[in-house]
Parts: sequence; structure tokens; C-alpha cells
Amino acid sequence: MVSEVFASQACRVRPVAEPVPATLDGLPAGEIFSHLVRMTDGSRHDQPKLALERALAAIPTSEVEARTRHAATRAVPTSLDPAALNTWVFDTPIAVVSNLLGFSADEQLAIVDWTRQFVACLSPLSTPEQLSTASVAAAQLRSRMHSLLDSIDPDSDNLISSVQDQAASVGWVDNASIVANLIGLLSQTYEATAGLIGNAIVALARRPTLLGEVRVLTDGWEQLVHETSRYDSPVQNTRRFVVKPTTIGGVDLAPGAVVLLVLAAANRDSHQNPDLERFRLERPDRCVFSFSRGGHACPGEALARTIAATALSALFDAQCPTARWQGWPGPISRRRMAICPFSTTSTP
Ligand code: HEM
Repeated sequence: MVSEVFASQACRVRPVAEPVPATLDGLPAGEIFSHLVRMTDGSRHDQPKLALERALAAIPTSEVEARTRHAATRAVPTSLDPAALNTWVFDTPIAVVSNLLGFSADEQLAIVDWTRQFVACLSPLSTPEQLSTASVAAAQLRSRMHSLLDSIDPDSDNLISSVQDQAASVGWVDNASIVANLIGLLSQTYEATAGLIGNAIVALARRPTLLGEVRVLTDGWEQLVHETSRYDSPVQNTRRFVVKPTTIGGVDLAPGAVVLLVLAAANRDSHQNPDLERFRLERPDRCVFSFSRGGHACPGEALARTIAATALSALFDAQCPTARWQGWPGPISRRRMAICPFSTTSTP
């Protein structure tokens, strides 16, 4: 049923009458939002999506691993202080992506801060203060991204030049849209990847033997992250807006209807994942909906999973003994969030 909705041509990612949420209309954040492939359908989506997909797929896994290990180790918390761990969980993925894009080490702290401030305005519960801080952050990110694009060395092989090359090859020529979607790579990395890392730490803390099982497998960290994405999805749901009459799963839907797709529940459909309540590292034919399906499927899945697995391995190399993690009660950034920023079901 979830797959059917994702495949349906009658469903869109935004309501026709409100392509940009009213709270963001006229703000720099709203301008960015209006270009995001995540928030558009049709021709405004397809070309940019192809370019982003190709550019992300071209990053060598070994490069992501090396940069993640560097970022994760440099900032690894030296104690199990929940606040320090939380900062590390959130900052590591975004530091890796900003580094892959081509930002210098000096700029990364500011990029992390602006991304955090920008993302905070994408909630229906954002306060006027958050909206105004996000406006400044969005304007800063836009200006930094423009400068980076303008100063690209043709011989460099960073993500920003790869996006630019792919954009040219698919005929995506709108500079404002390219900049907005480069910012989108940062914002879409931020909470979801932190949620994946946080939920994996929770899985380890709750299962006394799991860390040992991870360590005996050659791909133990990758399996841990993949099963976490199924068992405890960092993105709980997304939504679709019906634009023409259709029938899905025997249910008639009229234009204007909103469909809430609970990805976390789809991950636990026994037809897709037998033995669904068991956390299994080596689950055969694992079926995961957390990264969406169909035309809007996440192009950052492989990147996110590699960052999470490498960061966790760096953390546990630095932080063991194991016993200290077991039953660890800290308020880690265990996220059950909605990727659709205007859903009301985000429960940190
Ligand atoms: C654990 C981490 C992540 C999760 C769980 C996640 C999940 C998702 C989901 C569910 C969607 C589609 C929502 C929908 O269909 O309504 C999506 C879209 C997207 N994600 Fe991710 N994501 C993650 C990390 C990333 C990263 C690291 C990047 C890039 C650096 C990224 C880039 C994107 C983009 C560009 C889209 C829009 C695709 C489109 O609409 O065609 N994501 N993601």
C-alpha cells in the first residue's frame, strides 16, 4: 500500500495551493524551500533530482569513510555526558557533508550552526524568534554557497563541482535552484542522519550482547545501521497530497485528500520483514521504507548509512569499555522525526 502511494501519479509532495508553507512565504528560507527537489514535482523536480542523484552516487565510499573517521574522531566526546554526545551525533554528519561539498575546515563550524538554525524553521511549531534566526542563517548559507560555486577550481573533485557538472549535463541551469538544493543536502543530512546514529546507540544500549555481535562481523557496523533504519526509523512518516481522483488499496481518494505514510510501520510489515519485532543484524532480504521509494526516494541513503556506520565505529573504538554503554540512560538524540517538515508527528 505504501509503495502504491509512492508510485501514484495522483499524489504530490506539496498541496497545490500552498507550495511553500505560509509561515515561510517571503522569507529567505521560503525561497530555498520553493526550489527543493524534496518539495517539488514534475519538471522542476526531475532534472535536479537526476543531477543530485548522480553526483551523490559518484562519491567513493572510501572517501566518505575517511572523512567521517576524521570528523568523528576529532570531535569524539571524551565522556558519556549526554549533551556532549548529542552535539557529536548532530555535528558529525553535517561536518562530513560540508567537507565533501568543499567547505574549508575553518568554515565548518559556522555551516553546522547555520544549518541547525535553518532546519529549526521547518516545523509548524517554529517560534517567531526561530523564524527570524533561520532567515539570517538561510541568507548566510545562500551567500556562502554562491561564493563556493563561484570559486570552484575546475580540477577539484568535490561534491559541489560534481553537482555543477551533473547539472550542466542534464540541462539544469537555474543557479538559485542549484544553490537551494546544495543547502538542501546539508539540511536533509542534519536531523535524519543524527537520528540514525542516535537510534543505533539506543539499540546497543538496550541489548547487552549486540556490540559483541557487531564486532565479530566484518560488516557489523553497516548491518547495525541498516537494521536500525528498519527497526527504529529516524524518519517516521511522510505525506502525500492527492491532486486527482484515484483509488489506492481499494480506498477512493478525492483531490485535496492528504495521505500520511507511516514509514516506520511499513518497515514492520510481516509480509516484508518476517520476524519483524526481532533486531537482526544479518536479516535476509531486509525491506526498509525509511528512505522512501519511487520518484522521491532519498538519493543520500548510501551516504547516510556510510557516515552513520563509520561514525559509530569511531565512537566505540574511542569510547569503550562496552559495559559503560549498557543500560545507558542518557537523553540521546533518539529521533523519531517526520522528514516532511510540516507534519505534526515529529516526536524527538
Ligand atoms: C538517515 C538519514 C536519512 C534518511 C532517513 C532520509 C530519508 C529521506 C526520505 C524519507 C526522503 C523522501 C521523503 C518523501 O518521499 O516524502 C528523503 C528525500 C531526500 N533526501 Fe534523504 N534521508 C537521509 C539522509 C540524507 C542525506 C545524507 C542526503 C544528502 C546528502 C539526503 C538527501 C535527500 C534528498 C535530496 C531528498 C529529496 C529527494 C526527492 O524528493 O526526490 N538525505 N530522504
